[in-house]
Amino acid sequence: MRVLLDSCVWGGAVAALREAGHDVEWTGSWPADPGDERILEHVRATARILVTLDEDFGELAIVRGLPHFGIVRLVNLSSPKQGAICIEVLARFAARAPTNGDYHCGSRPDSYSSRRRIARGSTFGIVRRHASPETALRCVTRRAIVKAVVYRQYGPPDVLRLEEVDKPVPADDDILVKVRATTVAAGDWRMRKADPFAARLYNGLFRPRKVTILGFELAGEIEAIGKDVRRFKNGDRVFAFTGFGFGAHAQYRCLRESGKITKVGLVAHKPTNMSFEQAAAVPVGGLTAQAFLRKAGIRADDQVLIYGASGSVGTFGVQLAKHFGGRVTGVCSTANVALVESLGAHDVIDYTKDDFAKRGRSYDVVFDAVGRASAARCKRALRRGGRFVSVEGSAKLRADDLDTLKALIEAGKLTSVIDRKYPLEQIADAHLYVERGHKKGNVIVTVPHDDRGQSA
Ligand SMILES: NC(=O)c1ccc[n+]([C@@H]2O[C@H](COP(=O)([O-])OP(=O)(O)OC[C@H]3O[C@@H](n4cnc5c(N)ncnc54)[C@H](OP(=O)(O)O)[C@@H]3O)[C@@H](O)[C@H]2O)c1
Repeated sequence: MRVLLDSCVWGGAVAALREAGHDVEWTGSWPADPGDERILEHVRATARILVTLDEDFGELAIVRGLPHFGIVRLVNLSSPKQGAICIEVLARFAARAPTNGDYHCGSRPDSYSSRRRIARGSTFGIVRRHASPETALRCVTRRAIVKAVVYRQYGPPDVLRLEEVDKPVPADDDILVKVRATTVAAGDWRMRKADPFAARLYNGLFRPRKVTILGFELAGEIEAIGKDVRRFKNGDRVFAFTGFGFGAHAQYRCLRESGKITKVGLVAHKPTNMSFEQAAAVPVGGLTAQAFLRKAGIRADDQVLIYGASGSVGTFGVQLAKHFGGRVTGVCSTANVALVESLGAHDVIDYTKDDFAKRGRSYDVVFDAVGRASAARCKRALRRGGRFVSVEGSAKLRADDLDTLKALIEAGKLTSVIDRKYPLEQIADAHLYVERGHKKGNVIVTVPHDDRGQSA
């Protein structure tokens, strides 16, 4: 096998390859201009496999139709051990890359150049920048395709498209979850429409860039784990909040075992007494209600008012406030009075008939769980020293919050309310419904898999 290696970090690989009897040319470092025709000619004439760390050169190689190239972008393959792994990576390329650009490994599957390569029929494996060689090796597999709901422009529900995307590959501290159920939450339609405008500052001014697959929460089974994962094993059933990376509206989602919660989310074993659908409805509403009620510091026998008691956050808010020892009053419309009572509220106020702020009753805690009551109105209903919290504000999640919810669910103290269910291909209808702002609890999206063989 003749191999051309282009970068100085491949020293260990070069030594190992030569030791194994391969004919290796090592340029040490690549000349500045990757578009230099002489270099391209040289590569064309000599290399069986080009291994490059240079995205531009890799791109050019594909575009110019250089023969029999696999392109792998690995970092830090400088030790003999890593070199040995490199041989195996290259051997796989040699065995499986019969045509130009058949394989491409990179760290940015969403980049323009990667998409173009995929469109040209190349196989894409994702190698994260700091992936171990072992992980990199796992990535060199045939391109696996799965389904996901992708949006490439802000707007109404019909910007959502069910598309084929690359199956994610877990990094060393990731689990790969086969998603069975997810939800459409308020945050999903807000992000789809970029409402409020600040969503654009996070996700791209003119079109979605950082997040193109929505979905905040999921439940499913672990299909693969990275080598550093400790808390989970293959086959475990989990539920998760995906954090601001979203991405749950897909057949597969990689999740980090631990890390900064807003960024990587939270994952825990699924409550044993819940279905995937029931469990998928827990994380966003449950974690949010728990965090805000903790912020409010409920004490035993506190009078607690939950405004918007029939939404996802509100239904969990009623149950959790009661669990924390509060005497709970829920505020909702006529149609939801029975629901809120069934969740354990001691008193229910129908906001279409009565204004909680003018009833002459006061509370130790007022939690606006839907963000529709003004702070001034809520504060009018507070006792001296009372606390007001609102979903319009922010509250901190803790690493064990999802485990706490799981324990409460298994103890029969908490349940999720499901309003409607939609299959993944009808997710636009689910968005339309949720955006009206009157869902009761949660709207589930079921995710299909062909379980007879390949998942997609
Ligand atoms: N800050 C955070 O970290 C955080 C996290 C999660 C969610 N959120 C926010 O929390 C809010 C609630 O989300 P959600 O998923 O629970 O529910 P949602 O879909 O926003 O609201 C649905 C519920 O709100 C009730 N509702 C609508 N208008 C109301 C009003 N004027 N007064 C009282 N209730 C009213 C509806 O009941 P009726 O049909 O009876 O009116 C319905 O049950 C969203 O704005 C979301 O963006 C914030």
